[in-house]
Amino acid sequence: MAKAPTKPVLLTGASGALGRMLARELSALGWTLRLTDIAPFPEPLPPQASFVRADLNDGVALLRQAEGCGAILHFGGVSVEQPFEVVMGPNLRGLYHVYEAARRERARVIFASSNHAFGFQDRPRGNAATTDVEAAFRPDGYYGLSKAYGELMGRMYWDKHGVENVNLRTGSCVPAPLEARMLSTWLSYPDLVSLCVAAVTAPRAGHCAIWACSDNPARFWGRDHRARIGWQPRDNAEAYRAALEGKVSADAVIERYQGGAYTRIDYTREGFSPSDCFELE
Ligand SMILES: NC(=O)c1ccc[n+]([C@@H]2O[C@H](COP(=O)([O-])OP(=O)(O)OC[C@H]3O[C@@H](n4cnc5c(N)ncnc54)[C@H](O)[C@@H]3O)[C@@H](O)[C@H]2O)c1
Repeated sequence: MAKAPTKPVLLTGASGALGRMLARELSALGWTLRLTDIAPFPEPLPPQASFVRADLNDGVALLRQAEGCGAILHFGGVSVEQPFEVVMGPNLRGLYHVYEAARRERARVIFASSNHAFGFQDRPRGNAATTDVEAAFRPDGYYGLSKAYGELMGRMYWDKHGVENVNLRTGSCVPAPLEARMLSTWLSYPDLVSLCVAAVTAPRAGHCAIWACSDNPARFWGRDHRARIGWQPRDNAEAYRAALEGKVSADAVIERYQGGAYTRIDYTREGFSPSDCFELE
């Protein structure tokens, strides 16, 4: 593993599922962490970590927390599909505050983007991992739309202000895969940790995007910028195949698209069968 960063690293969303795991694991690597979340940190603080409770909507608080930091691991915000009004504050305005803080500190942003920014991309037919890094955003809801906005914000802040950013197009980051779709989308906790280490410590990142899933043979996604930061996942979901491959829905929309069940939430394009509208995509 790379040496610990010389400057502190700010971790938003620290009280969440991934935030708590990252706080524990990165602290164990000797990193100095500033943790923040709107919810209290529910565990004893790891060594060399401090915690400030704050809302991502509060730009001044973010500027203060980021002071002297070399990188911001941005994992805070609404993390599931929600109405636009709920998503807007933390995920749109909050992201702007993160980028303004990064711009002032010349810090790199590592953004927890999501596969749901591409949820209406078709799943590959056969075994080929066909969706490459340049694929069009096809968000499957307001949550996925906010992640596409976040990636584009990274594009703009790099082009205009030289703020480096690594966009982690996260699949399903849970301790173990739970359904057939996750044979494609699963990202193990150790692979997320090594990805964050690579994203923070790589000498140069520019603006880049990584399909953040483990080395799953059934993955949907192809080329990305992982070589630039020197990341390779080590785990893969195949050991779970026998237990999970029958765990599919009976819904043609869910099974057609990469975003799975999120594509079905508030879906009103009835009257078209998924195959009818194929020609019009
Ligand atoms: N877990 C996954 O499989 C997965 C997949 C794709 C993307 N992601 C992204 O990774 C990040 C972390 O995911 P998670 O599973 O740990 O989610 P989580 O919901 O457990 O954590 C998100 C944290 O953000 C905090 N938060 C929400 N609104 C806030 C606000 N206004 N101000 C400050 N903090 C606020 C919450 O309190 C929570 O602790 C999220 O951005 C999510 O979109 C996760």
